[in-house]
Amino acid sequence: MTDTTHTTHDADEDIRNQDIKIYINGDLFHRDEAKVSVYDSGFMLGDGMWEGMRLYDGVWAFFDEHMDRFFGSCKAVSLDVGMDRAGIMEALTKTAAANGMTRDVHCRLMLTRGTKVKPFQHPSLSRSGPTLVIIMEHSKPVDSLHSAGIRLASVPQVRGLPNSQDAKFNSHSKLNCVIACLQAEQAGADEGLMLDPHGFVNTTNACNFFIVRKGEVWTSTGDYCMNGVTRQKVIDLCRANDIPVYEKNYSLYEAYSADEAFLTGTFGAQTPVAEIDGKKIGSGNRPVMARIQKLYKELIRENVAEHQG
Ligand SMILES: Cc1ncc(COP(=O)(O)O)c(C=O)c1O
Repeated sequence: MTDTTHTTHDADEDIRNQDIKIYINGDLFHRDEAKVSVYDSGFMLGDGMWEGMRLYDGVWAFFDEHMDRFFGSCKAVSLDVGMDRAGIMEALTKTAAANGMTRDVHCRLMLTRGTKVKPFQHPSLSRSGPTLVIIMEHSKPVDSLHSAGIRLASVPQVRGLPNSQDAKFNSHSKLNCVIACLQAEQAGADEGLMLDPHGFVNTTNACNFFIVRKGEVWTSTGDYCMNGVTRQKVIDLCRANDIPVYEKNYSLYEAYSADEAFLTGTFGAQTPVAEIDGKKIGSGNRPVMARIQKLYKELIRENVAEHQG
């Protein structure tokens, strides 16, 4: 990577992250000692599911929505979580407490099918229960993400049909997205803008994608992309606040000439897009995105207040 490369997950350097404690199946380990087996199905096959969540003032924002997706994905691939939502919350609380964390925290909660008895694919070879890992880091998205914006490149790697590997699985294997990201990087951009199998603009390799045209907010139909929690919140906020919003097919032609473009994800909330394929998006003024950002911050405040003890 060159010095000028940004990622949508750039965070301010925080020395405390050198000494975080990581949760593995109920125990906590210093990050240097936190290890899973080379026989783990997550390492061997990418056979696992994960969630990225954010801690705001002691509350995991939109916990229920994240758990709906997580438990739904695990059920779809017959991965027994081994605990209910309350158990997951307990594990998160334990990890946050061990790290003295209450705010500006991002967590990656990962569950794999567990250790295999032999180094082969068959799921029945994982016999000792799932592996649950929680990594929590002190995390504040860098300011430059919000001032300069992200550079996207449209990439040849497309989103798959749901009958190959459903793009709604937040699976450990992200190779399709990783390939898209590499293609974008090789094109001199920060993140890849991925099309659907029909050539319509779909999503980026790590975030959901929106454009604004003449005051209207457009995003893909929702087919072929991650069913992002932030994506849905943005759509709901638009609907509740009389901002016209459409989930529809559109092409690069309409993306290039958009007035604004932005990404959504739990890590960065809404991140502006500065250019796509070297073409500058809009004038650089982003009034609609700014309004949505403000509404989203208020929504987080409400969600946190509702769940604070
Ligand atoms: C490919 C992809 N798109 C979008 C998102 C954003 O989803 P969310 O808003 O739930 O964080 C993610 C996050 O995991 C992702 O992996």
